[in-house]
Amino acid sequence: MLNWFPGHMNTARREIRKAMSKIDLVIEVLDARIPFSSENPLVAELRGNRPCIQILNKADLADPDITAQWLVHIDARDGVHAMVHQQGQSKLNARLLQKVRSLVPAKTSGPTMGMILGIPNVGKSTLINALSGRTIAKTGNKPAVTRLQQRVKVGKGLVLWDTPGFLWPRLSPPDCGYRLAVTGAISDRVVESQDIVRFVIRFLVRNHPDRLLSVYKLTELPEGELEVLEAIGRRRGCLRKGGVIDLERAANVLLRDFNGGGLGRISLEVPADAVEE
Ligand code: G4P
Repeated sequence: MLNWFPGHMNTARREIRKAMSKIDLVIEVLDARIPFSSENPLVAELRGNRPCIQILNKADLADPDITAQWLVHIDARDGVHAMVHQQGQSKLNARLLQKVRSLVPAKTSGPTMGMILGIPNVGKSTLINALSGRTIAKTGNKPAVTRLQQRVKVGKGLVLWDTPGFLWPRLSPPDCGYRLAVTGAISDRVVESQDIVRFVIRFLVRNHPDRLLSVYKLTELPEGELEVLEAIGRRRGCLRKGGVIDLERAANVLLRDFNGGGLGRISLEVPADAVEE
């Protein structure tokens, strides 16, 4: 695996640390399918004693029973509280405000200041837009200093500071990198795309063979990841001239189905993975 842009990492860390003196609590957005791998390893250090709400976002794509296990696991940690969310879910502001108030009492002078953190693609911008009720321009992967200037009022008494999606994800152990790549948090510039597909097929064959069979209308799963990918490609008409199966297209079909919910609600991590790793 390649390095994860160390220059940007350091800028982001410096800017966040500087802004943290004005912050009362941190809101870390995670992907509910990979709460361990999508957690930023440095948030604990940066937030110090401030409480943290971890939002398990994209819950519509995750297995609800496993998400319930993660809630218990996260709430057992010191100063960290979990909340489940998915795009379009109602009463987001009220639920978040209630959670914030249970952790930080209202101040007599000025609003409570919260900082939103999270690695790319976990749904921060979508969440911020939903909280603010308007579309805030996505500044993309610009350095932290630009985005920290974006503030969003959430009801009375809470102001959120937006931060870059450019925080560094956990790339080790290697399975974390694969899970991040499958869910789109890191691109195939960081992890070999062939390896990503092999990883997800291995996971699905082991944990959800029934879904592979029914979604791709296969009568059996062939031995080997490449052979499974070929079977998917054949079923989905990913063919090149001469009837050769286009494995790249087949891989895109599989990843698109996985991330679009076409394979059902699938979590890639259970709390035991976090403890082990
Ligand atoms: P970021 O700021 O953390 O980088 O994430 P962003 O909000 O841009 O969301 C990344 C992708 O995840 C977007 O899809 C967004 O629509 C999708 N998303 C956000 N929240 C949820 C959710 O709760 N459930 C599901 N299923 N998807 C969610 P995209 O395909 O990258 O972009 P677009 O097609 O929406 O433009």
